[in-house]
Amino acid sequence: QTIYRKDYTPPSFLVDSVELGFDLDPARTIVASRIRMRHNPASSSRSIELHGEHIELVQVRLNGKVLKPSQYKLTASTLTIPKAPDEVELDIETILAPQDNTSLSGLYVSNHNFFTQCEAEGFRRITFFPDRPDVMARYTVMLRADKAKYPVLLSNGNLIEEGDLGDGRHYAKWEDPFKKPSYLFALVAAKLVCQEEHFKLADGRTVLLQVWVEEGNLDKTDYAMQSLKNSIRWDEERFGLELDLDRFMIVAVGDFNMGAMENKGLNIFNTKYVLANPRVATDVDYAGIEAVVGHEYFHNWTGNRVTCRDWFQLSLKEGLTVFRDQEFSADMIGTDTGRAVTRIDQVRTLRQAQFPEDAGPMAHPVRPDSFVEINNFYTVTIYEKGAEVVRMYQTLVGREGFRKGMDLYFARHDEQAVQCDDFRAAMADANDRDFQQFERWYSQAGTPVVKAASQYDAAAQTFTLTLSQSCPATPGQPQKLPFHIPVTVGLLGADGCDLSLIVDGVAAETNSVVLELTQAEQTFVFAQVKEAPVPSLLRDFSAPVVLQYDYSDAQLLHLFRHDSDPVNRWEAGQRLAMARLLKLTAAHAAGETLSLDDTFIEAQRALLADDTLDAAFRELALILPSETIIAEQLAQVDPHAIHAARQFMRRTIAEALKPELLAQYHANLTPGDYSPDALSAGKRALKNLALAYLLVAPGKEELALAQQQFDSAGNMTDRAAALVALIHSGDEAAAQAALADFYRDFSGEALVVDKWFAMQAAAPTTDVAAVRQLMTHPAFTLKNPNRARSLIFSFANGNPSQFHTQDGSGYAFWAEQVIALDALNPQVAARLARSMDRWRRYAPALQEHMRRALERVAAKKNLSNDVMEVVSKALSN
Ligand code: ARG
Ligand code: ZN
Repeated sequence: QTIYRKDYTPPSFLVDSVELGFDLDPARTIVASRIRMRHNPASSSRSIELHGEHIELVQVRLNGKVLKPSQYKLTASTLTIPKAPDEVELDIETILAPQDNTSLSGLYVSNHNFFTQCEAEGFRRITFFPDRPDVMARYTVMLRADKAKYPVLLSNGNLIEEGDLGDGRHYAKWEDPFKKPSYLFALVAAKLVCQEEHFKLADGRTVLLQVWVEEGNLDKTDYAMQSLKNSIRWDEERFGLELDLDRFMIVAVGDFNMGAMENKGLNIFNTKYVLANPRVATDVDYAGIEAVVGHEYFHNWTGNRVTCRDWFQLSLKEGLTVFRDQEFSADMIGTDTGRAVTRIDQVRTLRQAQFPEDAGPMAHPVRPDSFVEINNFYTVTIYEKGAEVVRMYQTLVGREGFRKGMDLYFARHDEQAVQCDDFRAAMADANDRDFQQFERWYSQAGTPVVKAASQYDAAAQTFTLTLSQSCPATPGQPQKLPFHIPVTVGLLGADGCDLSLIVDGVAAETNSVVLELTQAEQTFVFAQVKEAPVPSLLRDFSAPVVLQYDYSDAQLLHLFRHDSDPVNRWEAGQRLAMARLLKLTAAHAAGETLSLDDTFIEAQRALLADDTLDAAFRELALILPSETIIAEQLAQVDPHAIHAARQFMRRTIAEALKPELLAQYHANLTPGDYSPDALSAGKRALKNLALAYLLVAPGKEELALAQQQFDSAGNMTDRAAALVALIHSGDEAAAQAALADFYRDFSGEALVVDKWFAMQAAAPTTDVAAVRQLMTHPAFTLKNPNRARSLIFSFANGNPSQFHTQDGSGYAFWAEQVIALDALNPQVAARLARSMDRWRRYAPALQEHMRRALERVAAKKNLSNDVMEVVSKALSN
C-alpha cells in the first residue's frame, strides 16, 4: 500500500461545482452532495473515481437516474463508476456519525460542537469525492441544525442566506467564490461567540474579521485578532498580496490533531494557538499564536490560491508558508538582534527535531518519492527543512530577487495545482539564474556535512578557504550528489572587527559574502587579508547543513565575544559548550571525576553581564545544548551519562556565577502591566533562566525567591517559570505544594492544565510509575490530543533519563500508549510512535528492549496504516 510520486496520473474527471447539504446530528448526519463533472481531456480513463471511507452510502444518481449496485464498484475506500459520459451530474447521499469520530479527521464533535478537518484526506469521510488536491471546484454549502444547540453555522466564503426552518432548526447557506481542492473545505456548527472587527485593506475594501471561541474564552481573543490584522498588513507590504474575501474567520477548537488549518476563509485552530491573556498564556504561547495565525493566513495565497498537484508536493505550500511566517515574526520584532533571535530559535528546532529525523528511519526528501500514509509526512522535514530550502533562494538572489520570483510564481500559477519544480522555475526565471542543481535539495534526504579547511599566507596576504561536502546515506538513497549550498562567510580580525572581503578577485559590498558551493570540493581565495583572520562560517545559518571546522577554543572565544553576526556568535558558544559536554559525558561513562574549565565559565560570566546585548540573545547564548542534541553527536547514546554531564555543567555554572545570576534576575524584572513584546519577553526569559540556574542547587534564599515569584507573579510566564524552577529544585515538599496551588487556581483552564501535566512529565524526578499515576488523575484523557501530548509525549520526548531506564519499562509504557491511542486516533498515535526513531543508537541492552517494544506494537492486530508505517520503517532501517 505504498504510493509513489512517479505513479501520478491526472484525474479522469474534473469538477466544476459542488453543492453540499448537511443535516447535522451527532449520531446521524445526512450529507447530500451534487457534483457537476466533466471528462478531463488529459486523461485516457473514462471511469469516475471517487474516494470514501467510514461513511454509509445511501444512494448515488447519475444525471438524474439512480445507479444500481451493478453499475458501480464500491470498496472500503473507493466508489468507481465505469464508462461515464462526458458531462455528469452526480447526486450522492451519505450518512455518518460525527460523535463516534475520535480520529478528528473528517466531520467530528468536540465539546458538543461540530468541526471538520479535511487535510489531507478527511473530505472522503464526509462524502464520496475525487479527494485529491488537483481537483479544484466551486462550493456552495447548505447547513441545517438545531438552533438552540448550534446557533452558529459557518462554512467557507460568504454567507448568502440564513433563516429558520420552523421545527427548532435553522439553516445557513455559504458560497465560496474561489475554486478550491476538497482538503480546504470546512464547516462549523456550534455554540460559540466571537470578537469581530471591520478592517480596511490597502486597496480600500473593508473586510469582516472574526475570532470564534466558546463563551468563557472571549477574554482571550485579542492577541489572535491583533496577529491577524498584522498578518494582513504584512502580506500586503512585503509581498503585495491582499485578502481576496469579504470575510475571514478563525475558529478555536479544543480537540485538534495539529496546530491549525487554513480552510478557505474559515481557519480552524487548536485553542492553543488562539487563546491568550496574561493570566493563562506564556510569552512562548503568545509567539506561537502570532506565528500560527500568520502561517494560516499566509496559506491563503501560498497553498489556497496556488495549491499542490499531489501530496508529494506538500512542502511547496508548507515550506514556503513556514518561511513566510518566520519572516513575519522577525519583521514584527523589527530589530537586527530580534531577527537573529528568531533565527537562532529556528536553528535550535532544526537540530532538535529535523536533523534527527533526517538521520533516522523515517528520513525523506523535502519532496518525498513515496509514502504509505500522507498524514505521517506533515514533518519537520517538509515544514522546517522545506522553509530552509525556500530561505536559500532568498539568500542566493536577495530579498528583491525573491520578491520577483514570488510575483512570477503567482502570475504563472494563480488558481492552479502545481509542483515544487514550478516554484523553483519561477525563482530561476525571474532572476535569470540556473537552479538545476538546486533541485537536489528537494530530491535527496539527509543532512549534508560541509567541511571547511583554511590556510593563511602572510607573505601573499591571502586566506584560502576550502569547502567540501558530503551527505550520509538515507533509506533508499545510498549515494548522494553534491548540493548547491550557499555558505555565507565573514572574516574577523584580531580586534574583533570584520575585515573587508575580496573573494576570487571580486570585492564584496558588505562584510559577509555568499559563497556558492556546488562541487564536492571547492576553494575560495580571499585577497589583501592583512592578518590571520578567524573565519565566521555559515553566517545566519545560510544552509541546513552540519558545518565542521577545526576551531581552536581561542578562535571560538573570539567569535563568541565579537562576531558581528549574532547567529554565529551564539553558535560559537554552542560549540564551546558542546565540546565540553561531550567530554563530560565520556568522563561520566568512564567513572572519572568531572570538571569544567574556567575559560568557559568566564566566557559565560562576561556574556551574562554584558548589558549591551539584548536579554533575549543572552538567554539563548546561555542555554546549553539539549540532551537530545548532545545525543545526536554520539555514535552510541547513554542517556544517563548525558544527563549527568549536562546537570554537572549546569550546577558548576550556577555555583560559579551566582552573584551575576542574582544581579541579572533583579535587573530584568518587568514590573507594570504585562506586554508580550519581544523586549519584555526577552527580559523575562533571561530573568527566568537566571532563576532556573539559581534553583539547580538552591539554598533557603533561592527557594524563597522562587516561591515569592510563584506567589506574586502577575503573568503566566513568570508563574510557570517559578513552578518549573521549584519542581527542579530538589525540594519535593515545595514542589508538591506549588503544583497543588497551581492546579487549584487553573483547573478550569484546559491549556494551563496541559502545562501542569507537561511540567511534571518532563521533570527528571518523574519516573514511569509517576506518569502512570498522573494518568489516573480525573483531568487526564487520551482522547484529547493536547492532553495526551502534554503528559505522554512530554515524558517520552522530553525526559530522556527517565524514559530510557535500564529495565525497559519506559518502552513498555510507550508501546501500551501507542496501541491505546491508535484505537482512538491513528494520527496522534503515529506521532508518539516516532519517539522510537533513534533506537539503533542506544547501548545494546536498551536497543534490545526498544526492539521488543517496537515488535509488540507491530504485532498488534488492526493496527492503523499510520502506526504501521512508522514502526515497520523503524524496525527495517
Ligand atoms: N495545513 C495545516 C498547516 O500546516 C496542517 C494540517 C495538517 N493536518 C493533518 N491532518 N495532517 O497549517
Ligand atoms: Zn501550513
